[in-house]
Amino acid sequence: MTRPVRIAPSILSADFARLGEEVRAIDAAGADWIHIDVMDGHFVPNISIGPAVVKALRPHTAKPFDVHLMISPVDAYLDAFAEAGADTITVHPEAGPHVHRTIQHVKALGKRAGVVLNPATPAKMLDYLIDMVDLVLVMSVNPGFGGQHFIDSQLRKIAAIRKMIDSTGRAIDLEVDGGIDPDTARRAIDAGADALVAGTATFRGGPDCYAANIRALRGD
Ligand code: DX5
Ligand code: ZN
Repeated sequence: MTRPVRIAPSILSADFARLGEEVRAIDAAGADWIHIDVMDGHFVPNISIGPAVVKALRPHTAKPFDVHLMISPVDAYLDAFAEAGADTITVHPEAGPHVHRTIQHVKALGKRAGVVLNPATPAKMLDYLIDMVDLVLVMSVNPGFGGQHFIDSQLRKIAAIRKMIDSTGRAIDLEVDGGIDPDTARRAIDAGADALVAGTATFRGGPDCYAANIRALRGD
């Protein structure tokens, strides 16, 4: 079965001094979603973007903002990211303590809710969440940095989650994040992914290359 694959460039690899222009450039180059990595220097060892930056970027594109929160605690910041213009808000159960409540909160804000699993977190974590989420994100690197190598063991998790999603009969996106290039993109898609985050592989070579980079990730 072939399903359309959405490409979500991670702006973590963009030129932060020209972020608005970069978002417009990836929009024009064919990005489906804009992936925004939010890091707090506590849940992950890096610090990146906050709600003020998300808000400032909102007028630069009509494409959905796919906001990946790598922060702990997370609940106190959900409203701010929703108000800033997030379309999907994705949270780590590891950032705890009550991921079910956190997802209820995201849904109550009228946003699409995602749950993201770290490389060591089993698919089983989804058993009592799958019925309430719109997106599952599989980390194929440990969160915190762009430019890391794809962890092959995650392919088996992607395949297991694909089965879980299909058995719900609901349209839940299965996104993969970390170390995605044209080769790992193909393997993730074959395992069942239908959305791919790509930082390094989108932004390499500068703006003239973005459209070709995104096409290569789709396998076109
Ligand atoms: C890692 C982030 C990723 C990262 C991907 O914590 O969640 O979205 O930016 O970067 P690449 O595509 O370079 O692995
Ligand atoms: Zn991410």
